[in-house]
Amino acid sequence: MTPAIETSDLTLRYGNFTAVGDVSLRVPTGSRHALIGPNGAGKTSLVHALTGNVATTAGTIRIGGEDVTTLSQAARVRRGLTRTFQINQLFRGLTVLENVSLAILERERKTRIFWRSAAADRAVAEEAREHLAFVHLAALADRPVHSLPYGSQRLVEIAIALATKPRVLVLDEPAAGVPAAQSESIFERIHALPRDLTLLFVEHDMGLVFRFAERITVLVGGRIMTEGTPAEIQADERVREVYLGRRRQHGAA
Ligand SMILES: Nc1ncnc2c1ncn2[C@@H]1O[C@H](COP(=O)(O)OP(=O)(O)O)[C@@H](O)[C@H]1O
Ligand SMILES: [Mg+2]
Repeated sequence: MTPAIETSDLTLRYGNFTAVGDVSLRVPTGSRHALIGPNGAGKTSLVHALTGNVATTAGTIRIGGEDVTTLSQAARVRRGLTRTFQINQLFRGLTVLENVSLAILERERKTRIFWRSAAADRAVAEEAREHLAFVHLAALADRPVHSLPYGSQRLVEIAIALATKPRVLVLDEPAAGVPAAQSESIFERIHALPRDLTLLFVEHDMGLVFRFAERITVLVGGRIMTEGTPAEIQADERVREVYLGRRRQHGAA
């Protein structure tokens, strides 16, 4: 079967520095795939390259079999590849519902009409409420985004991503900055997404990774060190060494 994501020798350099080197990654359709690695391993850089936030230096990216290597981020979104937005991309003064509605309108390219005819488009609001219900935020739909706790704001980002109707969703630390109890509930919502939606997520909490990923790719120094099931990665001495080594460096354990 054609994989949802397939990179071949993907390389991303910042000047002389190789942030991502020769990464060949294959994520089957419907898979829940985690990307892990110590700080600075190149996880975010790989996400940027996949989603078209930065131009790659070498190699190819295929989404659903189609070569998207040179396509813009917007063109990739139209092909079903979406990433969660960084928190500062939310419109903090607008309501939760308006934020999700704008994403739907962007998908439908009706943004200007929306502002002229205000809340006229009932279908948009209805769909926005469906996405919000999915992330359990229906009750907060009319609140301004800035008034929500941080964890709920991160769920708004997921609702916005859903509004693009993705086939492949890339989440870069979706629970970053969120208290542990809440990060679990964020991952539970992600886990509840339709099974045909392919998920690639970056997460540093190993408990969450082992619980929610079906396969794990370990990135170190921009290169794939190993890949396997949670059980295989958990048992891998080299992976343990990378993480314990880091902790020792930081004097934490
Ligand atoms: N725009 C940039 N210019 C130069 N170096 C960068 C840039 N973005 C990231 N880097 C470097 O690339 C490496 C990988 O960073 P990043 O992809 O953010 O790692 P991770 O997400 O795994 O923590 C780091 O050493 C970082 O300093
Ligand atoms: Mg990162």
